Amino acid sequence: MPWHGPDPAAGTTAVAAGVAADGGALVPIALTVNGDRVTVAVPPARTLVELLREVLGLVGTKQGCDAGDCGACTVLVDDEPVLSCLTLAVAVDGRRVETVEALARGGRLAPLQEAFVRHGAAQCGFCTPGMLMTASALLRRTARPDRDEVRHALAGNLCRCTGYVKIVDAVVAAGEASAAPAAGEAGAAPAAGEEPR
Ligand code: FES
Ligand code: FES
Repeated sequence: MPWHGPDPAAGTTAVAAGVAADGGALVPIALTVNGDRVTVAVPPARTLVELLREVLGLVGTKQGCDAGDCGACTVLVDDEPVLSCLTLAVAVDGRRVETVEALARGGRLAPLQEAFVRHGAAQCGFCTPGMLMTASALLRRTARPDRDEVRHALAGNLCRCTGYVKIVDAVVAAGEASAAPAAGEAGAAPAAGEEPR
């Protein structure tokens, strides 16, 4: 068995050894995936989505068209959304990769994921990991995006179920919620007529 999955205890992933199935040389790479250091040797043509799903077992990232058309495979590399089906694993050597598995913490959904649930933005769910990662990148650089900014950011992510309106609703709501001052902070006083909680 040439490949080994992540070792949660060590926070690292073991290196594979040997040669590719076609007899070609493997290329050693080292990267960070969802905060864990990963060192692995890959065939030169292995894509990032294959590395994530087939080697590291991170199957939250979806492999849809495998041709750069659907956005289902979107992950973050150094905070920027990339199509992992069009990205070679060797191209992320030394870089920081985040997948949808990184969003929920301690068994709790991230606010963006909660907004997707609240607004009915996930139906079959196949597009959802890619949508979430693209939207996460948007929310990191634009605290409170408007609907046009959300639509523009998500233009490369296709959804066959929702008609997009609920997805845009969810991302806008998540931005508004994260930009709103927390209860008790300056400016968070109840509006006139509103009962304090
Ligand atoms: S699977 Fe990558 S864009 Fe469709
Ligand atoms: S929820 Fe089914 S493709 Fe988007």
